[in-house]
Amino acid sequence: MREQLIGGALLDWYDVHARDLPWRVPPLSGLDADPYRVWLSEIMLQQTTVAAVKAYFQRFTALWPTVGDLAAAEDAAVMGEWAGLGYYARARNLLKCARVVVEEHGGQFPRTEAELLELPGIGPYTAAAVASIAFQQPAPVMDGNIERVMARLFAVEDPLPGCKSVLKEHATRLTPNDRPGDHAQALMDLGATICTPKNPACGICPVMEACTAHKRGIAADLPKKAPKKAKPTRLGYVYVARQEDGSVLLETREEKGLLGGMLAFPTSDWSEAPTDVPPFAADWHDPGLEVRHTFTHFHLRLALRVTNAASDTSPQRGEFLPRALFKPSSLPTLMRKAHDLSVGHFTGDDHDLG
Ligand code: ADE
Repeated sequence: MREQLIGGALLDWYDVHARDLPWRVPPLSGLDADPYRVWLSEIMLQQTTVAAVKAYFQRFTALWPTVGDLAAAEDAAVMGEWAGLGYYARARNLLKCARVVVEEHGGQFPRTEAELLELPGIGPYTAAAVASIAFQQPAPVMDGNIERVMARLFAVEDPLPGCKSVLKEHATRLTPNDRPGDHAQALMDLGATICTPKNPACGICPVMEACTAHKRGIAADLPKKAPKKAKPTRLGYVYVARQEDGSVLLETREEKGLLGGMLAFPTSDWSEAPTDVPPFAADWHDPGLEVRHTFTHFHLRLALRVTNAASDTSPQRGEFLPRALFKPSSLPTLMRKAHDLSVGHFTGDDHDLG
């Protein structure tokens, strides 16, 4: 049967070419993957590339080697370590999930896709990835790479996202009962290294002969994508206030919404026509600079405002944190950009307020 030939060829290839990744158990090693490490890596990998995740993963697992350690961590410490990965609701759900696993499951991740789906922050992708990689359940794992591989192997020419369910049907038929986790990871590696979005390396692909798109000469054209809507741009102001001793005004953002729960400089609303409402009355300087950042659904441009705050300033929001108590690297990327842009624009800095 075609599916079995493809599955067998994929596993043979994976046994030789599996990427060496810090959360991974090498194929044929006889070792079991640690569900905590699989879960943590999959949450991080939804956010950014394998290359970028490695360092975050190593820091997290050094600080919190088990799900129990993570569950007992201070929220702010975890949010600080997550800074730079983006989409901070994931970090909050990560902690919630660790605590539910400890409090309701005796510190052991549940084994089935259905039970995993009940946990905070675990969606269909993560549930399938953990069930298959950590618990050898034949759950088809669907991410962008695997969708691309399926679209090509079976020459699905309808555009994404409409064809997702067809791609999942193909992936389900292909998933073996034996070594489903290695099968999923083989597809991930194939998608990342050979069946790449542009210029796929069909010549060295272990399943080239079974690939319908390759046979028809259309592999590089698949999957097709429905045209994307242009992202809107929102505007706003970001207020960076510094005192003579180097303290800066920061606040913890509301739990709900973008950058929820993160440490941040106060900002105005983010909209088409934002209102310039500084956190306290002062001589706010406009250095003519903008912080630019792109979120999933919009571009953001925040006009920078800076001021040298008097030492007895009492702001309407946030508090002045001594410079020694905050690391710019523990700010979310947008706020780190604001910090970096503001340097040099206070009175007494190299180029002063003028
Ligand atoms: N991308 C997402 N999950 C992955 C994994 N487990 N291995 C490699 N790449 C991945």
